[in-house]
Amino acid sequence: TWTMVNIVDEQVERIRTQIGGKRAICGLSGGVDSAVAGALVQRAIGDRLTCVFVDHGLLRKGEVEQVEKDFVEATGAVLKVVDAQERFLDALAGVSDPEEKRKIIGREFIRVFEQAAREVVAEGGKEGDDVEFLVQGTLYPDVVESGGGTGAANIKSHHNVGGLPDDLRFSLTEPMRELFKDEVRRVGEELGLPAEMVWRQPFPGPGLGIRIIGEVTRERLEILREADAVAREELSRAGLDRDIWQCPVVLLADVRSVGVQGDGRTYGHPVVLRPVSSEDAMTADWSRLPYDVLAAISNRITNEVREINRVTLDVTSKPPGTIEWE
Ligand code: XMP
Repeated sequence: TWTMVNIVDEQVERIRTQIGGKRAICGLSGGVDSAVAGALVQRAIGDRLTCVFVDHGLLRKGEVEQVEKDFVEATGAVLKVVDAQERFLDALAGVSDPEEKRKIIGREFIRVFEQAAREVVAEGGKEGDDVEFLVQGTLYPDVVESGGGTGAANIKSHHNVGGLPDDLRFSLTEPMRELFKDEVRRVGEELGLPAEMVWRQPFPGPGLGIRIIGEVTRERLEILREADAVAREELSRAGLDRDIWQCPVVLLADVRSVGVQGDGRTYGHPVVLRPVSSEDAMTADWSRLPYDVLAAISNRITNEVREINRVTLDVTSKPPGTIEWE
């Protein structure tokens, strides 16, 4: 039978054959695909892999630590962390338009990653020019979608990946081209990755940046990060985190509403809970979460996050609503 151990062994063998004595770079996003891809390649070539993690400051509570600490402990991977929070905040200052935010985040991300990749290549010193492979967490459905054929180990020849500049020419290694998402999760477990990473729900590349309706600021990120952490905690406490597709928490940062707490009037911000059920994110329905779970989330957020005085629930399917608010 085709067990996870078989899959891991076979992929490790293939990666070794493909990469040979060269070096490789893997960008980690905090998500499951890049983490599993990195862990597989690490098992295959050890220290000849350098993982690069760009901390753009838009991840959720605990996710940076998951990469910097738990991933490294679980895999023994060499990790280069770039703290780019300031840079992203500066670039996002004054911007409210969703597509503009995406453009800025995407652009800054590529710039920072390229710079880090250059440093990794240079750090290799005399033999630094042997960094040749870029690890990608491409899955089988992505391969099919892009007309890439049957998913047979299709080792691409030298080419320039995703518009990287000429001085950064990599070949691709895509150790998960034959796997579906559920298999990737099982491989991740087999490789000893932290459960929170392996079972992470879909999370957009632009992160919390597109869950703050309005300008993204450090303070707003802190508020949203706390509220989001409460929602995730309560959903997993209720055993629902693996049932729902995802549950964005959205901060309506430019909206204020009046509330009352203790003896005082408050004038805080609302958050929206957006729990959805879906098969593939193309369509979705709002999840009928139990009232007591909703109540627990609402009570805790309004008690624990001072700036939030109202919790609302999004009961819109997709279509017409999208999953994210931006
Ligand atoms: P929507 O909001 O379009 O989201 O219904 C569908 C799925 O895609 C995710 N999403 C993104 N993922 N970059 C990403 O990597 C993005 O800009 C982006 N926007 C939405 C969303 O979380 C959902 O899973």
